Amino acid sequence: MSQGQPRKRIGRWVDALSRLASSWRRPPESLPNFQRDYSHIRVGLATPSMAEQIAAMSRDEVEVGLGWQWTPQRVWESIRDRRCNVAVVREHQRVLAFAIMRYEETTAHLMLLAVRPEFRRKGFASALIRWLEDVAREAELRCIFVECRRNNDAARLLYLECGFYETTLQPRMYRRREDGIHLEKWLRTPEAASDWRRWPKTDRR
Ligand SMILES: CC(C)(COP(=O)(O)OP(=O)(O)OC[C@H]1O[C@@H](n2cnc3c(N)ncnc32)[C@H](O)[C@@H]1OP(=O)(O)O)[C@@H](O)C(=O)NCCC(=O)NCCS
Repeated sequence: MSQGQPRKRIGRWVDALSRLASSWRRPPESLPNFQRDYSHIRVGLATPSMAEQIAAMSRDEVEVGLGWQWTPQRVWESIRDRRCNVAVVREHQRVLAFAIMRYEETTAHLMLLAVRPEFRRKGFASALIRWLEDVAREAELRCIFVECRRNNDAARLLYLECGFYETTLQPRMYRRREDGIHLEKWLRTPEAASDWRRWPKTDRR
């Protein structure tokens, strides 16, 4: 592969991202389960100043019992990394929920996701996943991967609800202690779908 190709790809999803970032002003009523006035709440990209809050949420909500890997420095690096999107639902400068997606050549990896306990079941995680997925689709990526602990029912149900399916159970995946589940979601563009319909019947399996 030539040196120039990856850069072109990055440019493509960065473009896609900036289009979405500027257009993402979804009225709060369109997010499900809103109980009160969330008109000041926005989904968008994290700023470097949010790294500490996000890292603390990861420590307290995601990495419990496993050791703190997503330190403020690592989150800050992800915010600055052109291959990553750190998306947040925020109320002014307070992060209520966040998700970190890393984009590769043809796939994306949802690395981290958490919602503050008092803001769960309001559609925040689904909204973040949709937002990041839109970027992946715009960049014509093929698949999104994610993993979670086997005993994390909330996450497993959320991902299934968002169209992921479980592929593998990996025993003792987390720090050689806890089992993990691998999930993936394949993204098909309308063009790919119509290509499939044009295939001769014998090629369909
Ligand atoms: C998992 C988590 C991110 C879900 O966030 P959320 O904002 O509450 O999720 P949503 O409101 O978008 O939920 C969408 C759907 O997922 C399913 N779901 C989510 N949480 C669920 C739960 N606790 N029990 C059952 N179903 C659940 C439901 O189908 C839900 O739709 P509904 O509320 O209309 O029934 C959140 O519980 C969390 O932060 N957990 C701790 C951190 C974590 O586990 N992160 C994932 C690591 S891989």
